[in-house]
Amino acid sequence: MGSKIISTYPAIINSILFVLLPYHPETIIMLINNKHFRTIWLKESNDKIVQIIDQQQLPHQFVIKELASLEDFETAIKDMQVRGAGLIGASAGYGMYIAALEAAKKNDFGKYLNDAANKLKATRPTAINLKWAVDRQLLAISKAKSIEEKIKVAKMTAIEIADEDAEFCRNVGLHGVKIIEEISKRKNGEVVNILTHCNAGWLAFVDYGTATAPIYEAFNRNIKVHVWVDETRPRNQGASLTAWELLNHGVPHTIIADNTGGHLMQHGLVDMVITGTDRVTITGDVANKIGTYLKALAAKDNNIPFYVALPSSTIDWQIRDGLKEIPIETRDQDEVKYIQGICNGELKRILITPANSPASNYGFDVTPARLITGLITERGICPACEEGIVSLYPEKR
Ligand code: MRU
Repeated sequence: MGSKIISTYPAIINSILFVLLPYHPETIIMLINNKHFRTIWLKESNDKIVQIIDQQQLPHQFVIKELASLEDFETAIKDMQVRGAGLIGASAGYGMYIAALEAAKKNDFGKYLNDAANKLKATRPTAINLKWAVDRQLLAISKAKSIEEKIKVAKMTAIEIADEDAEFCRNVGLHGVKIIEEISKRKNGEVVNILTHCNAGWLAFVDYGTATAPIYEAFNRNIKVHVWVDETRPRNQGASLTAWELLNHGVPHTIIADNTGGHLMQHGLVDMVITGTDRVTITGDVANKIGTYLKALAAKDNNIPFYVALPSSTIDWQIRDGLKEIPIETRDQDEVKYIQGICNGELKRILITPANSPASNYGFDVTPARLITGLITERGICPACEEGIVSLYPEKR
């Protein structure tokens, strides 16, 4: 399927529009050129097509891409046109709906759908939301009788997963803002400096984000905040995506090289760290973008609170030891060796290493629970341990 460029524009225009809009709770929603966008949705004029914001092109071009086959979904997830735990889950949900449409044209609906489920699950190994969404679809579809009904259920479930993700993130914001409020009070209303790593913003979910949701909420309540944005090599999700989001929302921020956080913490320039996560064990270990562990160590050494924000769909209820049990994705070495940017108005890839030097590219690391001050979930904030998690989710006891 082709992709369509909706607009390329200086992001500052949107920041001005945002500031001019009257505040009401809905303005926390993410606006691009004064229009609310989610990261994934069904095309209005054709519900057999799913539309996404192509994140490979951000922050330089705002491109809407159409996904209309299972293969489109596999490519979009693998190549990170869509990315981030929540959005990967929502994409898998819609991918299963499209797969159900395809399965209806095959001899064996069930076999086609199971194969599709396995193909989607294989696209990215670390974010548990992927498996969670695919399994939720399989279960829901299996309960429907006719093929027609199965397709209807698959569509409904995909929408449900996406809506639920947005609602969970909104609630993460409402709980997490209390921590920022408290720090702000302690500082007599001075700026609260928050460090974040990678992109756990609305682009990584369907709406709002997790690590950013409390920040947007604080900003909307006129609490003074400033965000240190780790660039997050090798793919620079911080520098290109988190910064773009914050700029569009008008939130003060500064992009820093990944190695800067420790220095800032030693000099009292960080009040708290909030990151997202791609998988949390029942014991509170957290897998997140590579480099998160080092920030948690530095935060511990400097007595700075380190929070992880997540929807419960990111908890893997089956595992206890993050280091041993969470599969860590390794990606193409070229992501380390090349850097992408805009040059004379064109997106270009540039080699930044000796051509023949090998590179390795681990996508994630695990931060042990002992380094985490608390988990911010849609149901509230809890300590990063089994007792804490289960106190919020007693049905999982
Ligand atoms: O490889 P990505 O960009 O899909 O990585 C996921 C992330 O965005 C981060 O690890 C993030 O902090 C987790 S929150 C979805």
